[in-house]
Amino acid sequence: MHLRPFTIVLSGKGGTGKTTVSSLLVRAFIDAGKKPVLAVDADPNANLHEALGVTVRETLGSMREEAFSRQIPPGMNRHDYVRFRFRQALVEAEGFDLVAMGRPEGSGCYCFANDLLAECMKDLEREYPFIVIDSEAGMEHIARGTIGTPDLLLIVSDPGARGLRTIARIRTIATELGLPEEKIRVVFNRFRTRTAPVDTGSDDPIAIIPDDPAVEEADLEALPVSQIPVDSPARTAVSRLVGEIILLAETRSAE
Ligand SMILES: Nc1ncnc2c1ncn2[C@@H]1O[C@H](COP(=O)(O)OP(=O)(O)O)[C@@H](O)[C@H]1O
Ligand SMILES: [Mg+2]
Repeated sequence: MHLRPFTIVLSGKGGTGKTTVSSLLVRAFIDAGKKPVLAVDADPNANLHEALGVTVRETLGSMREEAFSRQIPPGMNRHDYVRFRFRQALVEAEGFDLVAMGRPEGSGCYCFANDLLAECMKDLEREYPFIVIDSEAGMEHIARGTIGTPDLLLIVSDPGARGLRTIARIRTIATELGLPEEKIRVVFNRFRTRTAPVDTGSDDPIAIIPDDPAVEEADLEALPVSQIPVDSPARTAVSRLVGEIILLAETRSAE
């Protein structure tokens, strides 16, 4: 029997490292043998595929309701067609699959892409032990119920006073959306040992990821950040985080 996948949503201010950490999480789950991983790029400024070194042909956001309905081939029902198109949008790679929400076309509404994703997530539930969702700060997809209730919301933040205020804000939104406190955890990213110790306020971070020159280098050379050396500080920290998450997933299964 397969278990419901353990869903991790990464949220946080732009530029805090959501995409970097998401891609390193995917990598670390694969390294831990927890594959295939489903990576969902739910940020309109989609670039998770680059961080993972794959190419996206089609995004869910580019599909429009009207056109979609017209394109259903004779003899195929809507549900089958939804699954067919979803599989077209799904990029299959070594150890993981990726699907991108992309930018909504036309009216600018994500509703249809959200519906597609929600419908397909139900079908996919048997395949992936872990789903990693690189989200946007507003957590629209949680608000709309697209991705169901995540098992873990990771708020990625830079250490420091401004970061802490953002954490508090996101925490409030998430709690208002009905996410229980214990499913919301903080990840401090780009921590520099030379600076003062992290003032974590009342937050007990689930991980502290160092500022890593290898990440910067990958960025400068436009190489997939998920492929930085296995012993580089950021990758090591994320592997440790994955160990924690696997424990959380096991605890959930035992309940
Ligand atoms: N741990 C880290 N060490 C060094 N650079 C990092 C680290 N995490 C992120 N960065 C850099 O910070 C920038 C923003 O990261 P990114 O993952 O794109 O953030 P977000 O997805 O939250 O907008 C990128 O240039 C990335 O290379
Ligand atoms: Mg990003």
